[in-house]
Amino acid sequence: MENTSQKNVILITGCSSGFGLLTAARLAAKGHKVIATMRDFNKRAALLEEVERRGGEIDLLFLDVTDKDSIKKTIEEVGDKYGYIDVLVNNAGYGLGGFFEDLDENEIREQFETNFFGVQNVTRMVIPMMRQRKRGKIINISSSAGLSGSPCFGAYNASKWALEGFSESLRYELKFFGIDVLLIEPGTYRTKIFYENARYGRNFYNEGSPYHPISRFMESRVKDYVDDCHKDPEEIAILIENLIKAKNPRFRNIPDIETQTQAFLRKLLPFNIYSMLIHKTIFSRLKLPEDEAYQIK
Ligand SMILES: NC(=O)c1ccc[n+]([C@@H]2O[C@H](COP(=O)([O-])OP(=O)(O)OC[C@H]3O[C@@H](n4cnc5c(N)ncnc54)[C@H](OP(=O)(O)O)[C@@H]3O)[C@@H](O)[C@H]2O)c1
Repeated sequence: MENTSQKNVILITGCSSGFGLLTAARLAAKGHKVIATMRDFNKRAALLEEVERRGGEIDLLFLDVTDKDSIKKTIEEVGDKYGYIDVLVNNAGYGLGGFFEDLDENEIREQFETNFFGVQNVTRMVIPMMRQRKRGKIINISSSAGLSGSPCFGAYNASKWALEGFSESLRYELKFFGIDVLLIEPGTYRTKIFYENARYGRNFYNEGSPYHPISRFMESRVKDYVDDCHKDPEEIAILIENLIKAKNPRFRNIPDIETQTQAFLRKLLPFNIYSMLIHKTIFSRLKLPEDEAYQIK
């Protein structure tokens, strides 16, 4: 059962590009009250152009998910204008690349500050508004990286796995108050997360690192994979729109067939076999130097 006529007040984080931008523009064109937030107004042009192109209106507000004052100010502004928030889309995030030994603790903590604590920071300030009205949906953008580990992206994996665990627990806690918590777990979509917004650890390019040849391999492997990826990121905006409309939406939502297959195989296969498949898929073309460092006896 869908309630298609309902227009909602929807707050979205990270709307300067990618899924956030497309979702904000799509939902605004459908007549929802969209509070599109971003942490850098210098990047607002792309969103405003897309909103104008599709027709619709948004409120554009500043919000950095790691800056609690900015969240408080924005939520207060929304409270003053609308009095409530129906839907929160926790979308802001980035992916840190680098092998564990090449990452320092601060880099990993920063990854968590955005992808995990950032979600909690915003969610914590939105829940009371939803609880008062006994309704609301919190949609957390996780990732296929929250379902399956991969080399070189352990920090990103860990932040999204943490988000998965948090979301599952929060879902039970908020059910008492009529608030639904949902997860979206996309595979790879070609957005700025892999280009302008890509982040690698400081030691990722360190030629002295024992991981250096594997890092170089991974960098080009990821680039080739992403360049070759033709899925439309609008699929995520459509999925979010459908989850907002749905009366009883599923908790876990995997939009793409690749990730659906991966999740199925991970459940079905013994982990040793599953991880061997992943290892072979990623590293089949890796040629390591004939160096003693890589000879396993
Ligand atoms: N694309 C994929 O293949 C994929 C797959 C699975 C999951 N995801 C997830 O989808 C979400 C959106 O990613 P995307 O692909 O749309 O990438 P994107 O185009 O790089 O967009 C990321 C957005 O997050 C914002 N952001 C980063 N740190 C922030 C902070 N501290 N406060 C507020 N905003 C912040 C960025 O703002 P700035 O422009 O200011 O940096 C940008 O607006 C992320 O959570 C990502 O992990 C993406």
